[in-house]
Amino acid sequence: MDVLALEAKEVKNDKASAPAPKPRAKPQKKPKRIVYFEVEILDAKTKEKLLLLDKVEPTATILDIKSMFHNSKGKPLRDEEILQELPVGTTTAFYFRDLGAQMSWGTVFLIECIGPLVIYLLFYFRLPFIYSSKHEFTTSRHWVVHIACVCHTFHYVKRIMETLFIHRFCHGTMPLRNIFKSCSYHWCFAAWMAYYINHPLYTPPYYGEKQVNTALGIFLFCQLGNFSIHMTLRNLKPPGSKMKKIPYPTKNPFTWIFALVSCPNYTYEVGSWLGFTLMTQCVPVLFFTVVGFIRMTVWAKGKHRSYLKDFKGYPTLRSPILPFIL
Ligand SMILES: NC(=O)c1ccc[n+]([C@@H]2O[C@H](COP(=O)([O-])OP(=O)(O)OC[C@H]3O[C@@H](n4cnc5c(N)ncnc54)[C@H](OP(=O)(O)O)[C@@H]3O)[C@@H](O)[C@H]2O)c1
Repeated sequence: MDVLALEAKEVKNDKASAPAPKPRAKPQKKPKRIVYFEVEILDAKTKEKLLLLDKVEPTATILDIKSMFHNSKGKPLRDEEILQELPVGTTTAFYFRDLGAQMSWGTVFLIECIGPLVIYLLFYFRLPFIYSSKHEFTTSRHWVVHIACVCHTFHYVKRIMETLFIHRFCHGTMPLRNIFKSCSYHWCFAAWMAYYINHPLYTPPYYGEKQVNTALGIFLFCQLGNFSIHMTLRNLKPPGSKMKKIPYPTKNPFTWIFALVSCPNYTYEVGSWLGFTLMTQCVPVLFFTVVGFIRMTVWAKGKHRSYLKDFKGYPTLRSPILPFIL
């Protein structure tokens, strides 16, 4: 304290007598030298080396190391990931898994959609060996069956067209074996639904024309909504880009739902199938709608989480798939 006070005094006295001293250049701060730790992670049982984290900060906790291990091992890396941004040092180990033969994402989507389109029509035209031989190539006497066929066909033709001309997928390929899983889901459900809706003993909906018209209205509204959202998502990124952006409502009223929902294309998709369920009043259709809703909710939650993680100012009012609910 004394030394400081004395120095201050001296400066004051000097000021009075001598000209003002030149401002001294600030001493350059020496960059802090951090000594990073090299941490080898071994399998507790086999002692096999699992990973080398060679740029661990000295202040890192065990939890930090656990999460670095988890991040480097558990998360599949995207093609555009940059090496120096990964939580690894100058020496690192990558784990490659051979996923076998691959197929482009778009092709998978097409095969997925062409199946239900064709399968449904086989039942609609009552091809041989589906129903009893006396019903071969006959047509249903219920007009709702014909409307349902038009709606089903329209839905899948729309999806095929969107895959070909609207969606700008950023995913490269998908393992060929995944296509069997995905196709069996869509194809089997289509066959199950089509079998009952086109069955010669099918009973039309309980409330008749009123119910069918309401359901048709819901179906068409949601198809339009779904298409509008796909167009908005398309316009978010230029061709060939993989960048994600926050989608916002546009002038098109069908997109206003973006104010409340992160993945409204799924909301409209579920709505379309609810309309189809109401129209056909058929249990397999209800089942398909519920399973589809569960699947899409899981995806929507994942996408919603990514939005929150990637964009700081992400609108807080939005829910993943159902406004204020889910
Ligand atoms: N009935 C069913 O069970 C069922 C199931 C699944 C899908 N579908 C239908 O198929 C449609 C497509 O499904 P999907 O799962 O592929 O939908 P999605 O993940 O929402 O993707 C649709 C398109 O929008 C792009 N996109 C999404 N978010 C984006 C963002 N923030 N910024 C820029 N581009 C973005 C996607 O590009 P990226 O490739 O870059 O993500 C993709 O090209 C659905 O909307 C639905 O109508 C139906």
